[in-house]
Amino acid sequence: QTRIQRKTVRDIAAAKGGQPLVCLTAYDAPMAEIMDPHADLILVGDSVGMVVHGLPSTVGVTMEMMILHGQAVMRGSKQAFVVVDMPFGSYETNADQAFLNAARLMKETGCQAVKIESGAYAAHQIRHLVDRGVPVMGHVGLRPQAINVVGGFKAQGRNDDERARVMEEAKAAEEAGAFSIVVEGVAEDLAEEITQAVSIPTIGIGASATCDGQILVTHDMLGLFDWTPKFVRAYGNMRAEIEQSVKEYADDVRARAFPGSAETYKLPKAGDKRLSR
Ligand code: KIV
Ligand code: NA
Repeated sequence: QTRIQRKTVRDIAAAKGGQPLVCLTAYDAPMAEIMDPHADLILVGDSVGMVVHGLPSTVGVTMEMMILHGQAVMRGSKQAFVVVDMPFGSYETNADQAFLNAARLMKETGCQAVKIESGAYAAHQIRHLVDRGVPVMGHVGLRPQAINVVGGFKAQGRNDDERARVMEEAKAAEEAGAFSIVVEGVAEDLAEEITQAVSIPTIGIGASATCDGQILVTHDMLGLFDWTPKFVRAYGNMRAEIEQSVKEYADDVRARAFPGSAETYKLPKAGDKRLSR
């Protein structure tokens, strides 16, 4: 059996200015398996805390959560480039802390890169990791781990100071050696300016079609929640489908219509010579 080579950091970097990179989040093996043939990059996002674990923000996400979900996604995928998010509190202190935790993510999951929500201060951490063999994706604009400083999930770049800050974050990540950056929650003109200003691919979420690639939280785009942000397009209505399936199952169980004879084992009793299935 031929071994399917995963996409590499070079494949991702080479997509700058070309056909848009297809990126999605995954947190478990079956979902990773379903999307793998279609995705260039799979992100094990710390959004897992909100969409899978029911946390109010990503601040409560732990290294242990990222490792468990990262392992599952690696088992389910074959060809996509897999990035695991560094959770809040795992890299901000200093470069040593960032490297120890990034190395742990790579060793224990087998992922190919990590992502850091990179305020300008984090350029130091990015350089330290890249120099030591950890490919890093930056993440600028709306940084969900900073929700408690910002006061909510708000689009960034609402005035000249904010725009300059986001542009500075993007350039700092590039200069520090990031191979790509997520650009989240910024207006189209700023996303375009950033995409033109840096030589690494920009992956947009709520950041217009001008970016070099797109990413969405998979559970959002599958329609698993009642509410989604403006920038999400629903490509499915999984909530309604799951609800309908559960309701039908409940009705069948209560009516003793499930299980039926086809779903029931009929094994020979002790002493019974007939073979039966
Ligand atoms: O955690 C996440 O899912 C992310 C993406 C939405 C970029 O960081
Ligand atoms: Na994230």
